Amino acid sequence: MARDTARVFSGIKPTGHMTLGNYLGAVRQWVAAPDDGLFCVVDLHALTVEHDPARVRRLSRQAAALLLASGLDPERCTLFVQSHVDEHTRLAYLLECTASDGELRRMVQYKEKTARARTSGEQVRLSLLTYPVLMAADILAYGTDEVPVGEDQRQHVELTRDLAVRFNQRYGHTFTVPRATLPAVAARVMNLQDPTSKMGKSDDSGPGIVYLLDEPETVTRKVMRAVTDNEGGVVYDRATRPGAANLLDILAACTGGDPERLAEGYDGYGALKRDVAEAVVEVLRLVRERHAELAADPAAVEGVLRAGAERARGLARPVVDRAYEAIGLLVP
Ligand code: AMP
Ligand code: TRP
Repeated sequence: MARDTARVFSGIKPTGHMTLGNYLGAVRQWVAAPDDGLFCVVDLHALTVEHDPARVRRLSRQAAALLLASGLDPERCTLFVQSHVDEHTRLAYLLECTASDGELRRMVQYKEKTARARTSGEQVRLSLLTYPVLMAADILAYGTDEVPVGEDQRQHVELTRDLAVRFNQRYGHTFTVPRATLPAVAARVMNLQDPTSKMGKSDDSGPGIVYLLDEPETVTRKVMRAVTDNEGGVVYDRATRPGAANLLDILAACTGGDPERLAEGYDGYGALKRDVAEAVVEVLRLVRERHAELAADPAAVEGVLRAGAERARGLARPVVDRAYEAIGLLVP
């Protein structure tokens, strides 16, 4: 059925506390998306690396509460938990029969994570290799047009497109071919202590990572201690001055400005850091306040997730059934 607006789908893994990178790179775009988007706490993806069951459960609830606190309105969108909707894994298998082993081994995130796991002697779970296929199923099950994500997910959405096109060519038109949408600034927020690597969720409370629920004083301390360079003046140059560029990107994302133009207003890093800290604290203030209210009412969040799963199932079922039929399975 034709729709007036683009169908939007995106997800977040409950593998750690949500960061400023998640918020500026992804979640803010979700809040601004047209009505009827689907947003998913992708808990199955959290099982692709070593995990603690109780922690995944806790982080899944927390992610849902934080998404609502960030401004997702359950009246205008569908918020749900991936494992509550069987269609994702049901479709993933068909897509495993569409993808090749080689194209999954080429995924940058897989190569990085396996390299890290091997140096620490950890086993690499098979699901880490197949995880982008499950992600493709998440997206394709809903006839998605747009996938708002940060830069690090661009390659996975490209793979999703390839799989959709290949499936359609082999078995007849079944899937909408989606595209990634990235924010104009802050598509890759960097670690404040190491501005050449991404600000990622991690198990420790890293001084270079701003978490959505950090106290204002903590946010300020982390920003004021951000690593910059020893050059004079403030210039926006991601290649040679990544620390300054990251702060300018964050400021631009929080205040709606342009990072290069903002750089012209500063002589030194002290004033820039003070303004960044203030802007981030302001953006996170509302999220923290709303989260405190929601945390006091877990039944309300559960109700939203239950209704969300019900709606998501209804949307995904016919799409996945069509795919089963198209690929040659007998539909009961
Ligand atoms: P994840 O935490 O890996 O589940 O990511 C959830 C969403 O946040 C994805 O769309 C990511 O691309 C985005 N994201 C994660 N970290 C960052 C970051 N440092 N900068 C921008 N976007 C990010
Ligand atoms: N792989 C994404 C990440 O690590 C999370 C994710 C899973 C996702 N399924 C998705 C994002 C579907 C967008 C659409 O961030």
